[in-house]
Amino acid sequence: MFRYFTSGESHGPSLTGIVEGAPAGLEITEDEIEQHLVRRQKGYGRGGRMAFEKDRATFQSGVRFGKTTGAPIALTMPNRAYEKDKSNWPVVMAKEGPRGDVEKITLPRPGHADLVGTQKYNFDDIRPVIERSSARETAMRVACCSVARKFLRELGIRIGGHVIRIGSVGYNSWEDVRKIADPYLDKDAEEIYHAADESDVRCLDADLSAKMREEIKLRRKEGTSLGGIYEILVTGLPAGLGSYVHWDRKIDGQIAQAIVSTQAMKGVEIGLGFEAGHRQGHDVHDEIYYDNRFKRRTNRAGGVEGGMTTGMPMIVRGVMKPIPTMIKPLKTADLETKKVEDTRYERSDVCALPRAVVVAESVIAPVLANAILERFGGDSMDIIRKRFSEETGYDLK
Ligand SMILES: Cc1cc2nc3c(=O)[nH]c(=O)nc-3n(C[C@H](O)[C@H](O)[C@H](O)COP(=O)(O)O)c2cc1C
Repeated sequence: MFRYFTSGESHGPSLTGIVEGAPAGLEITEDEIEQHLVRRQKGYGRGGRMAFEKDRATFQSGVRFGKTTGAPIALTMPNRAYEKDKSNWPVVMAKEGPRGDVEKITLPRPGHADLVGTQKYNFDDIRPVIERSSARETAMRVACCSVARKFLRELGIRIGGHVIRIGSVGYNSWEDVRKIADPYLDKDAEEIYHAADESDVRCLDADLSAKMREEIKLRRKEGTSLGGIYEILVTGLPAGLGSYVHWDRKIDGQIAQAIVSTQAMKGVEIGLGFEAGHRQGHDVHDEIYYDNRFKRRTNRAGGVEGGMTTGMPMIVRGVMKPIPTMIKPLKTADLETKKVEDTRYERSDVCALPRAVVVAESVIAPVLANAILERFGGDSMDIIRKRFSEETGYDLK
């Protein structure tokens, strides 16, 4: 089974990840991981804080001479903020006591884990909740998932995402998105991310990109924040990953969990998703025909039927809520005094959606890698490649 764990705090010395279940013989380098980490850091709508933090994860185990050994892969990534502000964070995040005069944080931020986190873990200081619930953790998710992504890539399975809506600006319909995104799939889904990365809002349409930037600029001025919707596509998937026989084996359910467990993600659509609820059946289902093999003229199911991949490109959408930290304050009640006050502003993104696309591309990779291992399993890349190409008939050059 392909799985991963992350640990680490936003302002602690480093983030750590362990990837377990990667087969032996997978070629992987720290540079390949960094490429997605850098993508995660870029995007219009950023606050200043992370500008100096260039992330790089280093292997501590499980990789030898550029290939995985089959052993757990440990990754670490330093937090540059900790390094930069030596007089502050090592004191605030000290491993040993006494606490001294380190200030308690007692104003919970609405929209964050702050209030319920303190109630659940019985803290009188919000700091430990802030540190672990922060989306800084997604940097290590991206690093760990990049291993799964490379594994899929070796089997010709490619992932790419793009932004389809920021606040009130977005495409008008499913068909409009298909018109702009699907031509890229003639090659593979990575073409989508390469094209989307040309835009700092990661939108494939130049006019919409400009409008999205204006929308972000306007909302920044107003002191508020924005969320939006992205779409992730996957090409090269064989039919029959996942299963219809049991709820936790359905690939769409597993994908949904991977997306919604990411900070600020509030919903997932597979294919037409919610739009299917507005349409009649004939405008939703993909008719089947035969031309040397079974085919579909449309892919409104987004490549999944009955909890299994159909062999058509997978289309997954996710919605991100607006960032909860905003210049214009919200009201909140102090944990100690119970007095209602304004939230304090710390430098924060206005809209993290362009960056979140990279996280979403990443988190679905282990789900798909796991499904591949379940179906074509083996302990080494050679065996998996052989089984995969024999059974699917796909040519893996
Ligand atoms: C890539 C990314 C960047 C984020 N950046 C911020 C940020 O700068 N400020 C902030 O308040 N929330 C940010 N968030 C959102 C919060 O982490 C998230 O809303 C919070 O942890 C509460 O979790 P929930 O929204 O899943 O309930 C970001 C999320 C992601 C995925």
